[in-house]
Amino acid sequence: MPDHEHSLISRAAGILRAGGLVAFPTETVYGLGANALDERAVARVFDVKGRPRFDPLIVHVADVVAAHRLAAEFPPKAQRLAERFWPGPLTLVLPKNRAVSDLVTAGCSTVALRIPEHPLAQELLHEAGVPIAAPSANAFGRISPTTAEHVREQLGDSIDLIIDGGPCRVGVESTVLQLTGDGQTLLRPGGTALEEIEALIGKVTVPSADLTGRESGGMVSPGMLAQHYAPRTPLVLRTREAASHADAATRERTGLLAFKRPEDAASFARVEVLSPEGNLREAAANFFAALRRLDAAGLDRIVAELFPETGLGRALNDRLRRGAHE
Ligand code: TXA
Ligand code: MG
Repeated sequence: MPDHEHSLISRAAGILRAGGLVAFPTETVYGLGANALDERAVARVFDVKGRPRFDPLIVHVADVVAAHRLAAEFPPKAQRLAERFWPGPLTLVLPKNRAVSDLVTAGCSTVALRIPEHPLAQELLHEAGVPIAAPSANAFGRISPTTAEHVREQLGDSIDLIIDGGPCRVGVESTVLQLTGDGQTLLRPGGTALEEIEALIGKVTVPSADLTGRESGGMVSPGMLAQHYAPRTPLVLRTREAASHADAATRERTGLLAFKRPEDAASFARVEVLSPEGNLREAAANFFAALRRLDAAGLDRIVAELFPETGLGRALNDRLRRGAHE
């Protein structure tokens, strides 16, 4: 690592240890980090984001040993998933150890753990020597940040330091998987494909959350509220109905968020094509930034196409559905 980068990371680590907030890149999205063992610092994360206290944070750790310290149980399936997917875009929700504060877990008996793969995140975790609680570094409910500039726009004034690591490689948040005595449940589709997880540990329960984010049996994951990842411009999913509704007159004021190159691009005021060749990884990497550009274009509405419901497409569709206006 170059010298200037190293001194930036040491400064960031010092800020974290002293109770400050540091935004840092991960391979998924930028995180807003605080020392997970410092309740006052963690409380500041909730305040800066405007995040309700019932929505628990993911604790980022440097290695599996650190993860073991924070979990009361680390079942064999968690071990296998950790070996295969860590470091990377997978978060495991496991029974928590008493060392983890109720503020971080929002009173849950479980803790969400992840080892990020981004080299700067890794450096920061090693240098800080403490677990880092970090939600995505956006204002609550809004579009997640995939560049340092996105973080600066939304939260710039209220954070002590932003580490710029360029655009995030994956572009959507980690997959959140709960592994407890009750079974294995997908709490949030994300950067690690469900298909790959199931190939390793067998069938995973996928709750069919209704629009309130609640399952009939109760809340699926406290953070999975229906309205989330939302642009300010009304976002409409492109069903056949919406396509016909968008007649020539209204399309003048309408933007299109397209997966592949669309046939009717010319009739929209602005079009963002996520992956001309139809590659879901490329589409995910471009997703949030493209949505932000459309949101900033002063349009009356944004129409978005759904993705194939496989691999990263599942995560992208989830973000679209939650970002959409009813
Ligand atoms: O990729 C990511 O996961 C990014 C980067 C920064 O690591 N982080 C992120 O954090 O997306 P956040 O706070 O925006 O989303 C965390 C999700 C929320 O839906 C939250 O409710 C859920 O994880 N979660 C955290 N702890 C939980 C727990 N103990 N039980 C159930 N869900 C939990
Ligand atoms: Mg978030």
